[in-house]
Amino acid sequence: MHNSAIAVENISVSYGAGASRVRALDGVTLSFRAGEMALVMGPSGSGKTTLLSVLGCLLTPDAGKVSVMGEMVTGLSEDSRGALRQKSIGYVFQAFRLFRSLNALENVMIALEIAARPRAEAKKAAIQSLESFGLAGKQGLKPDALSGGEKQRVALARALVNDPPIILADEPTASLDSRSGGQIAEMLMKIAQEQKRLVVVVSHDPRIAQFGSRIVKMQDGRVIEDLEVSKCAR
Ligand SMILES: Nc1ncnc2c1ncn2[C@@H]1O[C@H](COP(=O)(O)OP(=O)(O)O)[C@@H](O)[C@H]1O
Ligand SMILES: [Mg+2]
Repeated sequence: MHNSAIAVENISVSYGAGASRVRALDGVTLSFRAGEMALVMGPSGSGKTTLLSVLGCLLTPDAGKVSVMGEMVTGLSEDSRGALRQKSIGYVFQAFRLFRSLNALENVMIALEIAARPRAEAKKAAIQSLESFGLAGKQGLKPDALSGGEKQRVALARALVNDPPIILADEPTASLDSRSGGQIAEMLMKIAQEQKRLVVVVSHDPRIAQFGSRIVKMQDGRVIEDLEVSKCAR
């Protein structure tokens, strides 16, 4: 489990009890390293979101071990786990999860305020992050005035503004048309390859498959395939 950005060993998660008990993850072992763009694919209900929640320390598995940036998560206090999450992981979601009443700049600054960075410094970093996603001219606009692709780029700027080594994205292209979905997928790929971060993208969108350096296929809570995609094959 050393040298990996995230490693999970034999993790299981069940929801509910008795007859309605659902085993969402069933003994999953995986390890991910920096620079990798891993796509977790599989049909609806196969356990992708549950897996991402465990990788992101948002959900504690019923059994198994989780380590993030070399730290064993299992057994950490709630506070320490929160601190590890805060410094290590940026999250991106299908529905963007932006604050409607805040403009693009404020939506990015929120992440820095949570990290308790001084306001002037936060503003500078947020502007830079928005610029890196081609949104320099849009910082004063609220989400309703932005296209879907622009909203997801604001969400990417927010996820990256704290410079986390890991980005986790759950169906980041599912609400987007092909063109902006492709752009977001390509940006995520560059974040992995050029910035040497670990990017894990959960998706059942086949259009995104070409952007992965690795494809993990899930079915019924298990990993049924785990393939490195060689660059020359693309
Ligand atoms: N909060 C929950 N309560 C009960 N069952 C859940 C909950 N979240 C997910 N499940 C069930 O766990 C299984 C895996 O779900 P999920 O991880 O969301 O899969 P996916 O993201 O691949 O669609 C499904 O059968 C789903 O219905
Ligand atoms: Mg899901």
